This record gives sequence, C-alpha cells and structure tokens, in this order.
Amino acid sequence: MDLWGVYLFHLVFFALQVVLSAGRDCLVAGDSCSSDETCSPRLRTLRQCVAGNGSMKLGPGARSQCANAVSALLSSPLHGCQCKRGMKKEKNCLSIYWSLHQSVIHGLNLVESYPYEAMERDYDYVRLASITADSEAGMVTVNRCLDAAKACNVDDLCQKLRTEYVSACIKPSAKSGLCNKAKCNKALRRFFDRIPPDYTHELLFCPCTDTACAERRRQTIVPGCSFEGSEKPSCLTQMRICKADYVCRSRLAQFQYDCQPAESSANGCKQGNYGACLLAYTGLIGSSITPNYVDNSTSSVAPWCSCSASGNQREECSDFLEYFTDNVCLILLL
Ligand SMILES: *[C@@H]1O[C@H](CO)[C@@H](O)[C@H](O)[C@H]1NC(C)=O
Ligand SMILES: *[C@@H]1O[C@H](CO)[C@@H](O)[C@H](O)[C@H]1NC(C)=O
Repeated sequence: MDLWGVYLFHLVFFALQVVLSAGRDCLVAGDSCSSDETCSPRLRTLRQCVAGNGSMKLGPGARSQCANAVSALLSSPLHGCQCKRGMKKEKNCLSIYWSLHQSVIHGLNLVESYPYEAMERDYDYVRLASITADSEAGMVTVNRCLDAAKACNVDDLCQKLRTEYVSACIKPSAKSGLCNKAKCNKALRRFFDRIPPDYTHELLFCPCTDTACAERRRQTIVPGCSFEGSEKPSCLTQMRICKADYVCRSRLAQFQYDCQPAESSANGCKQGNYGACLLAYTGLIGSSITPNYVDNSTSSVAPWCSCSASGNQREECSDFLEYFTDNVCLILLL
C-alpha cells in the first residue's frame, strides 16, 4: 500500500470503530475489556491514573504510561461507550465512561462525546417541544398543568412514583423535624428517570399565564425540601459537590451538551434538539444542583446557589449559573 492507501485504511478503520462502538454500553464494554488479556491491564492502569485526581500528581514517567493506556484503549470497545440514564449500576457504568474521558487532561482530545445514550428513536422529540409552544395560541380554555396532573394520576406507575416522592419530600424526619432531603431527592430522581417524558415534561413544563398556575408548577418538585435551604450556598461549591459524584457530573455534562446555546440556530440550541435539552434538564433534578423555577411570576429557572461570594472565580461561577438563567436554548423552551 502506498501512503495514501495507508491513510485511507486508517481512516476507514477508525470510522468503522466509531460506528461499531456507538451506543455500546460501558458496563458491557468494561466486562469485555476485563476478560481480554491485552485490554484488561490497560484499563487497570487507566483507573489508577484517574483515581482521586491522581494524574496531576504523577511524575512524567507515569504520565506517559497513562497516556499510552489511553491511546491503546481508544481502539478497544471502551471507546465511544455510553450509559443509560437511570439504568441498573448506572454509577459503575459512568465510572468506566469517565475513566476514559477524564483522561482528556493528558492532551488526547477524544471525539466530542457525552455520557448518556440518546433516547430510543421512536421517541417524539418534536411533540415534546410543542408542549410549551402551543400556549402561544392564547387559548386558556385548557389548563395544561391540571391535565398533566390528571394524566399522571391515571397511569399506575406515574401515580405511584409521584406519590412516593411527594410523601418522601413532605415527611418530616423524626430526629430533626425537617424533611429528609436525601430521601426526597432520591425519590425525585426515580420519578424523573423512570417515568417517560410525556408525563414528566407535561407536569414540569406546562404553560402558565397566571401566578396560581406558576406557583403550582414551581411546587411540582416540592422545592421546600428538594430545592431551597436557609442560605444560598456558592454555586462553585455545589458544582464541586456535583462533579465529585459520577452520576451528577454526568447529568451536568449531558445538560451542558444538550442545552448548549447557539445564537445562530433558529431554536437557540446548538444541537437543535429541544426535547433532549428538557430531558437533560430533568436529569439534574434530585442532584446537588437541582434547578427549579425561581418564582411564580416568570419562567426563570436556576439551581439554589449564588455567585455573590465567588471572588476571583466569579467568571467560572457565572458561566455555570448563566447556563440556566441566561441560556437562549433553555429560555426559549420554558
Ligand atoms: C486536583 O488537583 C488539582 C491540582 O493539583 C487541585 O487544584 C484540585 O483541587 C484537585 N481536585 C481534587 C478534587 O482533589
Ligand atoms: C407567589 O409568590 C409570592 C412570593 O413568594 C407569594 O407571596 C405568593 O403567595 C405567590 N402566589 C401564589 C398565587 O401562590
């Protein structure tokens, strides 16, 4: 083969790998790597490299070993693997995903990627996007928020998981008399991960024209327990807590990918997919950066945190917060 042939061969080979690995579950990929005698030691090396922020502390020798492991693993089933939101062993799956993606710090830029598989193809993103759009007609003859609540009530699973989170979120703990925030958030995650968006999005993003409706919408996630606290913590602190947890970090990465704003795009979203953005938004509910409507007179959303004391990291903090408060992709949807 001449040089061109070699080049083409590599190109085709690489493209094939991308295609073959697309949509592959990281748990399955991790298993098949572990049972392969060349792949397995590389994965072990890589896991050591990324363990506890290790790579920064490593000497040049170890760093090059880490880099070698990454490049070798790029041609293993691990490359391009993803996880399913709410799947069993989601955290294990994501830890495998991140062991490869965390390594981008080694200077190896992976193809732009995100942790979660897209929803099944039959999923009607366009219809979802119209949830908010129909309200423009100005016909207030139907109350979409009430209809959404009714629809959930007649679906067994929706009703069951909704009742579960509401009771988990309003029940005061015997010890403190306050609600159990951790339990509440866990029940909320179960609801938003397991119930199809046809129900959850109708409930959470229904259009409102008066404050009573907007207040009910704001109360959907029982913010008194899941959202608010006595004081607003720093967004940077909340973001750090989030990034230390594989699930939260992945939900955030997915949100930042799917809700990426683009002024030049007709719908304001770089990925052009409204439904995916809303889905990624609901993926954050029940995490340390749970977003919600901030009041009952607007459709503004934000996590419960502030950038007022962020000092010299103010820009990093605002970038994070403005992804919720000043994001054309998200704002046009709400
Ligand atoms: C990771 O290492 C960097 C550089 O040493 C440090 O600034 C950062 O705080 C560390 N992060 C964690 C989570 O330990
Ligand atoms: C809207 O929010 C304000 C401020 O929290 C509150 O005083 C008011 O009662 C709310 N309106 C409704 C209709 O719940």
